Amino acid sequence: MPFADLLIDPADPVHPLAAATHAAPYGYYRRLAEGPPLRFDAPLDCWLATGAAGVQAVLAHPACRVRPLGQAVPQNLAGTPCGAIFAELVRMNDGERYAVPKQVLARALAQVDLARLHGRVMDLAGDRVPGRVARLNEAIFELPLFAMADLLGFAPAQWPALAAWTRDFVACLSPLSNGEQLAGAQQAAYALLQGFTALLREAEALPGSLLHDIVAGADAVGWHASGGVLANLVGLLSQTCDATAGLLGNAVVALRAQPELCTQLRAAPGRWPALLRDVSQRDPSIHNTRRYTAEDVQLHGVRIPAGQMIIVVLASAGQAESGFGHGRHACPGQSIAQTIATACLQAWAEGLEDMALAWSYLPSLNARIPVFMQGASA
Ligand code: HEM
Repeated sequence: MPFADLLIDPADPVHPLAAATHAAPYGYYRRLAEGPPLRFDAPLDCWLATGAAGVQAVLAHPACRVRPLGQAVPQNLAGTPCGAIFAELVRMNDGERYAVPKQVLARALAQVDLARLHGRVMDLAGDRVPGRVARLNEAIFELPLFAMADLLGFAPAQWPALAAWTRDFVACLSPLSNGEQLAGAQQAAYALLQGFTALLREAEALPGSLLHDIVAGADAVGWHASGGVLANLVGLLSQTCDATAGLLGNAVVALRAQPELCTQLRAAPGRWPALLRDVSQRDPSIHNTRRYTAEDVQLHGVRIPAGQMIIVVLASAGQAESGFGHGRHACPGQSIAQTIATACLQAWAEGLEDMALAWSYLPSLNARIPVFMQGASA
């Protein structure tokens, strides 16, 4: 056998974008991390940033932007409700204009009372323990979105529609979506904007809600662009959606893989948050993100010309570096996501114990979200 063949595990993912949904990708990620931090991948026709050094260098570099230069909004979304939201999201843009909105969102999210959130989500999830596999697949998406909608100040009767619109809306962010899904995303974007507009009108009646804190924070620093505020409120739901469903689903998988954990956690419930932290490091829900060079950049001695795409393989960065990103775009919702997922899992663990589960992963180029099926035995 040629030497090179010995280095590649035949069960490896075929390329980094196939790894997020591969059954066992972590050996492959470790080997990527052992290679050069920056390399050109000819079959994918783009650059890869791998290992903690590669990932951090790209995410910290000011010329590595979240969108290609001159294309703030993807062509297929230009002039649509999804495009209007996209153009305002702090996640999808770089530059001075987004510094203040970013700060307002980060401050408001940091003020959320996590102990209260945990208690509230335990109650919500406790009332909605999934009794069947199909319900579990729905619930890992629904509960985090219900929790965020509640935190923002929406009434319970509005949560199911908001969750459904958010799931439809995020389709516009995936290159795998078809025409029908993109059309559904536009309708959902419109409905979400309407929903937040109505809630903003009532916001004064909702002191203590996250929405109230964001609006107060925006007023205090003179962020008056209401379109921008609305878009980023939608962004909070869309950022919650897939990533937190993945964390929760991957935590269910972790409990299946180590059944003794349930017994241990029942004896020491204070260890639930540590389990969720562990899952978000060892089996994260977001495996990669992208950056585009706005000018020639030099990273770890490698010159990357302007106009190139870099796939930043977050999941290859090692356990100390979780899948929540770094630098200017690092996730401001990490603690909230961990708290919501902890509370859901804690509320459901006993009910799930007798459910016979098998799983694969939803099609995605960057998210790892299990889809559960009826397993052979409990
Ligand atoms: C397990 C759940 C989550 C994971 C794994 C996750 C992961 C990430 C990652 C990797 C990024 C950076 C993307 C990049 O640099 O290209 C990010 C950004 C962001 N996340 Fe999260 N996220 C999660 C949940 C949440 C939640 C619940 C919220 C809202 C409360 C949220 C709000 C945001 C926002 C607003 C950004 C954009 C930050 C910026 O660009 O300044 N995320 N998230």
